[in-house]
Amino acid sequence: MSKLTVKDIDFKGKTVIMRLDFNVPLDKQGNISDDTRIKEALPTIKFVLEKGAKKLILMSHLGRPDGKVVEGLRMDPVAKKLAQLLGETVEKLDDCVGDEVKKKIETSKKKIILLENLRFHAQEEEGDEAFAKQLASLADIYVNDAFGTAHRAHASTTIIAKFLPSCLGFLMEKEVTSLAQALNPKKPYVVILGGAKVSDKIGVIGNLMQKADAILIGGAMAYTFLKAKGEDVGASRVEAEKIDLAKNILADAVKRKVKIVLPIDHLVVDNIEAPTKKITADTIPTGLIGVDIGPKTIALFKTELKSAKTVLWNGPVGIFEKDAFAQGTKEIAQYLATLKDAMVIVGGGDSASAAKKFKVADKLSHVSTGGGASLELLEGKELPGIAIIPEKE
Ligand code: 3PG
Repeated sequence: MSKLTVKDIDFKGKTVIMRLDFNVPLDKQGNISDDTRIKEALPTIKFVLEKGAKKLILMSHLGRPDGKVVEGLRMDPVAKKLAQLLGETVEKLDDCVGDEVKKKIETSKKKIILLENLRFHAQEEEGDEAFAKQLASLADIYVNDAFGTAHRAHASTTIIAKFLPSCLGFLMEKEVTSLAQALNPKKPYVVILGGAKVSDKIGVIGNLMQKADAILIGGAMAYTFLKAKGEDVGASRVEAEKIDLAKNILADAVKRKVKIVLPIDHLVVDNIEAPTKKITADTIPTGLIGVDIGPKTIALFKTELKSAKTVLWNGPVGIFEKDAFAQGTKEIAQYLATLKDAMVIVGGGDSASAAKKFKVADKLSHVSTGGGASLELLEGKELPGIAIIPEKE
């Protein structure tokens, strides 16, 4: 990695402020339902402590409180989980800036301090310089290991780096290095795209079209593509205003000799919430809704994936959150885990959740912790939280 990382910095006796992405899902009781992002932050936290940092101040956002204090989005469950995983006490403060916070940090006997949710202050998302300076004033060195938020030019992810010596953490390094392989792939390169909307993936399709040998499309976005080809999709979810875009993508793929593989059969229902009819069909009958790829498509996708040397999976191929519609996503996830000769990279967000749900996450080459961040990186964009960090000499 060309950027400065924690390995390039002397932390001895220093107070370090570290931005992490502790934006973890919470259940109805306010408990953390997936602690992956906290676990993935541990190597950098441990390293900085081992290298002699005097004090380590951790900070993150949680949810989208929009500049107000939201009781259910305080960082307390994160502090608890972190302490448990580290086997060390973590002092959690009730704010992230101000004299009180400064005083508490100076007088605390605890080595690890977690600030309150940064987004309780509107200045965080505004990228406010004065707010970033206040955060910077708490420490001597800034470390950014919040890959999931690296696409946001916020005060704590980007602007703060103007005011302190700065570097990236191990998670950033791992994410960037792994996702770079999806941009410089070994061939054959097969991309699986799913999820609801073509519009979410359009930037990625444009960039990957220049690199992939085949793009397999599932999820609701497949119905927009099928519609663009003139096929019947019944009452399935279609982005009517994206049909022309889908036509252009299909035409571009022909020119570039990229194989676009669309579903050839579907699981269809009459009602997503309470289906009374659930059948497999090659063509979606009038009034019915596609909710998953069918068995022929699963077999077809596996054939395409068989000889791949690089696979990028971004987006589930059906409504996998509902067990009744999860077969396609489950079988593809499990098949990816059997591809021993391929680098299999999972973009974050829903496909990462699916990889976890079907217990294959640890069998794949890389599962990103970033949803929006990995998408933007795969679109070929520079992420502001990384761009601001100085290059190695
Ligand atoms: C994420 O979960 O994608 C990151 O934590 C960023 O969150 P945001 O989309 O609310 O900025």
